[in-house]
Parts: sequence; structure tokens; C-alpha cells
Amino acid sequence: MVTRFFNAERVAAAIPVIERVAEDLLDAARSEIEATGRCELFSSFAQVLPCRVLMELLGIRGVAPATLIGWSDASLELFWGRPTPERQRELAELVGEFHQWLTDTVRGDAAPPTSFIGALASHRLPDGEPLDIGTAVAACFFVFIAGQSTTGQLIATVLRRALTEPGLWQHVPRRTGLAEAWVEEVLCREPPVTTWRRVTVRSAELGGVSIPDGAQLLLMLLGSGSDPEVFPHPERMRPYRTNVRHHLAFGVGRHRCPGASLARTEAAVALRVAASRLSGVRLEEDGTEPPMLDLLSFRAPLGVTVSP
Ligand code: HEM
Repeated sequence: MVTRFFNAERVAAAIPVIERVAEDLLDAARSEIEATGRCELFSSFAQVLPCRVLMELLGIRGVAPATLIGWSDASLELFWGRPTPERQRELAELVGEFHQWLTDTVRGDAAPPTSFIGALASHRLPDGEPLDIGTAVAACFFVFIAGQSTTGQLIATVLRRALTEPGLWQHVPRRTGLAEAWVEEVLCREPPVTTWRRVTVRSAELGGVSIPDGAQLLLMLLGSGSDPEVFPHPERMRPYRTNVRHHLAFGVGRHRCPGASLARTEAAVALRVAASRLSGVRLEEDGTEPPMLDLLSFRAPLGVTVSP
């Protein structure tokens, strides 16, 4: 149902929404640069754009994006980080609040019928029964976390790499398809979801290693885009590689990411609109890398500060 909802047609129809939100956020960023001489685009733009787009698509209203982002990031840290017992309790409070709020929202019946929450409400199982509330809330919970934090992380890396690649920022608004090609190259080389888990359903041999039935595997998705046998000179940013999509940034098989098309589109629109609205900016760098989000399965820069 999730895959069907986030289909290509719906993603294409969302482009004007994505553009409007991006323009809105970047106009505010430009005003901040004019007033203070700098702006941090991770928290003011990269994180907020996917949040606001998902709010529209899910049919969520009446909550500040910052609250949703806080809940979503807390879930990520609780499930994929290594929080101390004290921190686990703090995070669990936030995740519980999020789940409770979603339960009230899904029950509340205010979401438009065309939204994801509306689609969950009208969905019927093969026996004709509607989804129970717990399942509907679980679907919203994971779609929101899966779609919000990851896409914000991708946009942060896309912007940082574009700002430091000679000439790219200037060319993006004028050259059709360059933003999409750049996003794909970043997904291949530095995807936000670096690892994913699987459990073997039967014993198998992989690359000469015997893996027993029921083994827990941690798959290094990140490594697939840096394989020199598949991508010559993987360390170089080379948009327009013909086989660029042969990476595992969105996983593979029946659980492959159902939001891949939305994520790619949001990141390309984000880059294009940023490069045109903030044409004269440069990345503020003092020679050091920014702090990184460094969880078991997620890795991304936590800052993109620009100045004129
Ligand atoms: C750059 C952004 C994103 C990346 C890198 C990403 C990556 C992934 C990966 C690696 C998986 C696991 C796939 C597997 O098990 O084979 C996944 C699953 C999933 N993603 Fe994404 N994702 C992104 C954005 C999104 C968006 C925008 C949505 C929703 C609109 C979304 C919804 C989901 C869901 C619901 C699953 C679970 C699918 C299942 O287990 O059957 N993701 N994603």
C-alpha cells in the first residue's frame, strides 16, 4: 500500500508543492544572510523541506515542523544509536509522545481522503476489514521517520558537495538534468543510509563465507557505490555515469525503499532551487569537517553553513 501511494504520478504531482516549500524556506535563508551574513542550511532548509512535504502528503496539520523533526531524530537515535540508559529514557519519552500524537491524529479523522492517512483509513484488507488503528499508526510512524530524516540527510550532503565542486553551483540552475545527476552521484558515493539489516531464512554461501540459517547480517549498503569494478574511479564525483543507479542506497528486493522516487525528486528540487535563490553563496569552511550524524545505519553532515 505504501509503495502504491508514493507512486511516480503522485511524486510528479508533488513537485509544485516541493518547489513552493523550497522557495519559501530559501527566501527566509536569503533574508537571514542579508541580515547576519550567514545561514545554516541544514536546520533551516535541508531538514525542514522533507518534513513539510511529508506533512502535506500524509495530511498532518497543527504541529510545528521542529517538533516532528525532534521526534523523528529521537526515534533514529533510539533505534540506531548507542544511547546510555539515561539517554534511552529521554529518547523513549519523545518517541512515546510522537506515537501518542500520531495515534490521536490518525483517530481524529481530519486528514483529507487524498492524503496517506486518508488512504490508510479507506484501505480494506482482503477480508474486507479496515486496518486496525495500531497498524495504521505504525505505517505513519515508520513512513514519517523513514522519509523525513533520511531525505534531510541526503539534501545536506548534496548541498555540501555541490558547493565545493568547482562551477557546479553556477551550472545547476541552467543545465537540465544536472541536479538529478548530482543527487544520484551522491546517493551512489555517500548515501545517508549506510547499512541495513537482514536475517537469513536459510543457510547460504556468500563470497566464500558460509552463513547459517537465522543469522543476523549487517549489510554495508554504502560499499556498493564505491566498488571500482562497477564504478571506475568511484572516489571522483562524476555525474552522468551510465550505470549510476547500480548502487544499494535504497536497498534491494521486496523491501526496497518505497520512497526512493520522492527522495530523489526532493533532493534535486532542493539543489536546483538553492543554487538559483542563493546563487552567490559559498560554504563556510575552516578546513575541518562538520560534526557528523554517526548512527549504526545513518551518516550525514549536521551542518551546511553558507555566507556570501
Ligand atoms: C534519501 C532518502 C532515503 C534513503 C537513502 C532511503 C533508504 C532506505 C533503505 C536502504 C531502506 C531499506 C530497504 C531494504 O530493506 O532493502 C528503506 C526502506 C524504507 N523506506 Fe526509505 N529511504 C529514503 C527515503 C524515504 C522516503 C522519502 C520514504 C517515504 C515516503 C521512505 C520510506 C521507506 C519505508 C516505508 C521503508 C520500509 C520498506 C519495507 O521494509 O518494506 N524512505 N529506505
